[in-house]
Amino acid sequence: MPRPKLFATRPLFEEARRILQEKCQLEYWSEPGRISRQELAARVREKQGLVCLLTERIDETFLSNARELRIVANVAVGFDNIDVPACTKRGIAATNTPGVLDETTADFAWTLMMAVARRLGEGEVLARSGKWLGWDLDQLVGADVWGKTLGLVGFGRIGRAMARRASGFKMKVLYTDVARVSEDLEKELNAEYRDLDTLLAQSDFVSVHVPLLPETQGLFTAAKFARMKPTAFFINTARGSVVDEAALVHALESKKIAGAALDVFEKEPFILAGLKRPNVVLAPHLASASLETRTKMACIAATNVRDFFDGKCPANILNPEVLKTTK
Ligand code: DGY
Repeated sequence: MPRPKLFATRPLFEEARRILQEKCQLEYWSEPGRISRQELAARVREKQGLVCLLTERIDETFLSNARELRIVANVAVGFDNIDVPACTKRGIAATNTPGVLDETTADFAWTLMMAVARRLGEGEVLARSGKWLGWDLDQLVGADVWGKTLGLVGFGRIGRAMARRASGFKMKVLYTDVARVSEDLEKELNAEYRDLDTLLAQSDFVSVHVPLLPETQGLFTAAKFARMKPTAFFINTARGSVVDEAALVHALESKKIAGAALDVFEKEPFILAGLKRPNVVLAPHLASASLETRTKMACIAATNVRDFFDGKCPANILNPEVLKTTK
């Protein structure tokens, strides 16, 4: 049996390459820039497996040129870059990397929340500028985080990891999601359910932890920002497209909200000029970016591919129905 041929759009990490090379012939993109769509199509043409990042759009057009492809392994938990039904239609397995990045992502969302509340970005600029004149009573005074109300939009693994952090800060935790969690879990996490509009009206910090789905696309409209307190902060580590960014800019400009901290953007790497304001903390999609977590993500993607070619069901398959038809 010839070893399956794979292409990875990044060198990944050595640990992940080792897993892939056990069973497969691995080729990967190691140029400093991103691989172009055209080049990717050419490289994948005769490959049976693809390990890709969330920056690669795996859609119908792409798949129609990848006739030998049998598995697409995303190195991300979010898979809005992959047209899973189109994969399924072609009998191509699709996998993601859930479970390993929850705590790391929650750490970063917490970092952003602290940074925007305590004006860390502005403080950093001042400290480095050579213009700092020394301690002053009202200098860059921000808002307390401890003791405030945290509103979690999305109460999956990452939202819950946020709730656990909140208890150390003596915060009240509100959450919203498509369904309420059990009473036991609410008690354990000290979290109270609210519908989205009520949560927005009652929270001092609104942190977003929903996947990008047709139902969540553009969820945060002007009307939603108008519901928030003028002293409240908006934190997004989920996906940029859950927010109407023009509406967010307007909410910031018109002081409908106090500030925002954003790790994700609608058209990455483009960031709207209106978001580059002192009361907005910006990060370049870093929430899962610890070496430990990114290594685990790459290894999970690699294991999904290896297991698939071993004839096993990959642990994180998104469309298990294809296995019934795949040899
Ligand atoms: C994901 O995995 O979906 C994140 O956005 C990157 O870690």
